Amino acid sequence: MPNKNQKTLNTQDVLSMKGAGYYSKKTAGAKNAIDSIQEILERAILSLSQMEMLRFADFGAADGGTSQELWFNLINLLRSRGDNRAIEIIYTDLASNDFSTLFKTMQGMHGEKDLAYQRNFDNVFVHGCGTGFHQQLLAAGSLTLGFSATAMHYVSEKPCQINNHVHMVGADISEKKQFMARAAKDWESILLSRAKELSPGGRFVCMNFGIDEKGRYLGNTGGHSMFDKFNQHWRAHLDKEIITREEYINATFAQHYRTVDEFCAPFKDHMSKVSKAGLKLLSCSTKLTKCPYRTTYEKNIQSMSKKDFADSLIPTTRSWSETVFRTALSERDENEGNEIINSFYENYRAEVERDPDGHAMDYIHIIMEIEKI
Ligand SMILES: C[S@@+](CC[C@H](N)C(=O)[O-])C[C@H]1O[C@@H](n2cnc3c(N)ncnc32)[C@H](O)[C@@H]1O
Repeated sequence: MPNKNQKTLNTQDVLSMKGAGYYSKKTAGAKNAIDSIQEILERAILSLSQMEMLRFADFGAADGGTSQELWFNLINLLRSRGDNRAIEIIYTDLASNDFSTLFKTMQGMHGEKDLAYQRNFDNVFVHGCGTGFHQQLLAAGSLTLGFSATAMHYVSEKPCQINNHVHMVGADISEKKQFMARAAKDWESILLSRAKELSPGGRFVCMNFGIDEKGRYLGNTGGHSMFDKFNQHWRAHLDKEIITREEYINATFAQHYRTVDEFCAPFKDHMSKVSKAGLKLLSCSTKLTKCPYRTTYEKNIQSMSKKDFADSLIPTTRSWSETVFRTALSERDENEGNEIINSFYENYRAEVERDPDGHAMDYIHIIMEIEKI
């Protein structure tokens, strides 16, 4: 049996998106970000003309809803060009993921039926894999195109808990260094695993959360910092003795936001294991995707109330962050835990309703096109 501390450091225990389709329904920004790089994926897919069959993988796909239109459009592009090669698409995520909703979505039993490409196109086969992406998941040389969106900022294991914040962006220097070291090892494992899986000429396109050239990151692009707000409200629960010090500390996100330099380091060194494994970086860029909930509010400021805005923004933060706070309360019974979690998000929501200025969840992604030579 793992001891309690090991349990709270384990990424799999503190990480899962809310299930039953909640994640993709409440995460319009993640879908917009994916849709915005379709051109890069089209370029990658059209470079695969020599491959006998096409095997795609979507690493860290959650319920599959946010990337469904992208895959639909890519398959449609191939088929409309008369390309009828067999296509296998493998969705990967952690074993705790809601694969059931994913499979239903692709078969047209859930979500957008028109985009249910498994039903709408012939010779397309959908599979799932519940093993983490830090290891090799597919037979050597069998992958033609790997894709991953907004997933590889999760570290395989938290190197420590953060004492005075909930996220590494607010951690002290020594804690930050530990996260940086863990994330560097993880990035190398991710890349070496993809290098094994990819066939020569195959591509890996990923868009990951990170820190851009201007120091911006998710929810921190000019106004309030979302992670500071999480911390402020979690801390207020500690100050009011609603949670214990241990529960406060245990709500440490198992995430590291790499800088562009951290992402590119293995490619810049020609003697690195990654370069020697045959991976070549074709391009690296950064992108800001506006918070769709903020955009809608600004467009409809006459008809939308501050409450409407707050009611739309908080669920999107909740869809991916709730498990972190819930896991920190794992010693409590369910009702007590629910009450604490609900009051925590309600306090954040009420703050946004009082004064929406500066609140948003803009996305910052680092986008990389990688080729296996
Ligand atoms: C924020 S969601 C992104 C989902 C989707 N790709 C998107 O862009 O909307 C991150 C996903 O990564 C998954 N994930 C985190 N660590 C993982 C790992 N080691 N292996 C596989 N999936 C992982 C999570 O379970 C979650 O479903």
